[in-house]
Amino acid sequence: MLNRRDFLKVSAAVAAISPLSAVRAQSSSSDSSSDVSGANSLRAHAEQHGLLVGCAVAPERLANDAQYAALVAGQINLLVAENAMKWHALRPAPDKFDFTAADAILAFAESHNQKLRGHNLCWHEALPDWFASTVTKANARQTLTKHIETVAGHFAGKLHSWDVVNEAIDPASPRPDGLRVSPWLELAGEDYIELAFRTARQADPKALLTYNDYGIELDTPKHVDKRAKVLALVQRLHASGIIDAVGVQSHLSAGDDVSGTGLRDFVRELRGMGLQVFITELDVNTQKAQGTVADRDAEVARIYREYLTHMLAEPNVTAALTWGITDRYTWLNSPRYARPDGQRQRPLPFDADYKPTSAFFAERAALDSRPAAAGRL
Ligand code: G3I
Repeated sequence: MLNRRDFLKVSAAVAAISPLSAVRAQSSSSDSSSDVSGANSLRAHAEQHGLLVGCAVAPERLANDAQYAALVAGQINLLVAENAMKWHALRPAPDKFDFTAADAILAFAESHNQKLRGHNLCWHEALPDWFASTVTKANARQTLTKHIETVAGHFAGKLHSWDVVNEAIDPASPRPDGLRVSPWLELAGEDYIELAFRTARQADPKALLTYNDYGIELDTPKHVDKRAKVLALVQRLHASGIIDAVGVQSHLSAGDDVSGTGLRDFVRELRGMGLQVFITELDVNTQKAQGTVADRDAEVARIYREYLTHMLAEPNVTAALTWGITDRYTWLNSPRYARPDGQRQRPLPFDADYKPTSAFFAERAALDSRPAAAGRL
């Protein structure tokens, strides 16, 4: 959690970092291909093509790790809080809201001319400890409404978009519509998703309201089934005029076949409805991959290149974010995703020493592949 001292440090970092000079410091080699600062950055390449390129960030790292802050400032034009805008971060007690950490991210973004996405207003995970003992069928709808009014209201007019509801479809659900059997469904009723979107729309009419989910990227039977259920949900929300975009998380794994056409058909269907699509949480898990580090890097880069090139060919795909920026800080470092050989995973555009990885160059090339006809934001 970000304390006041950390918050002041973020503010100081905000003032001190010049995006161009800061990232130049990352580049240790004189080889021009490894100079990824300024005009060679992801950010510059994205902006040339009218795209948003982003990553998930943590405010305590922006405050305490100058190299990390410099990388985020120089490479990215769209931030999202990895955890700082979730319920457990914002709600220390049922009657309390704490925006210190989330506000620090917004301050960083504003000083570096970056946009910020909100993640997220309603999810079955990351709920505070008090939730289970406090929220009941009698007060769940009011609790959800108050949270969204207060949080979306706090940031109103300042955010690019909100993940209003996250991961509400579960292929293992016994329900035909695939709605996840979650505390929200059980306590607030089956129209809780509409309630969340309607409340968010009122609280912040400017943010693009997004439904965000994973496991819909491939053409495997499980992904195809989940994608169809997500589409049905989105069509329902669209009929009520309360959704603007879909977030395709894109947590991919080595060996994934990303050449299928199902996701592109889905994206085109959404385009026909006037909806944008954001790649919200891209990374590549190499927990089970064989071979040398170079082999695995090549596989991660293949997936970045193929996946992003296919997706960015679709004009309504307007933003691509990775879930983190450096392998030093990735959720895939958690023991659950540890490789059997103990070697670190390398799922992101920069490695644990802040050097660009093969994935960086694949991502940058994919941004450059954006067809001119796709238009600008
Ligand atoms: O904040 C505490 C810290 O005080 C404590 O010392 C530490 C010890 O484990 O835990 C910290 O909280 C952890 C938090 O990450 C911050 O590191 C939680 O235990 C841990 O559950 C939490 O995990 C996050 C997870 O969402 C659940 O909220 C991951 O960082 C984050 O990457 C992950 O992100 C999700 C997206 O929101 C939705 N899509 C999937 C994605 C990956 O799971």
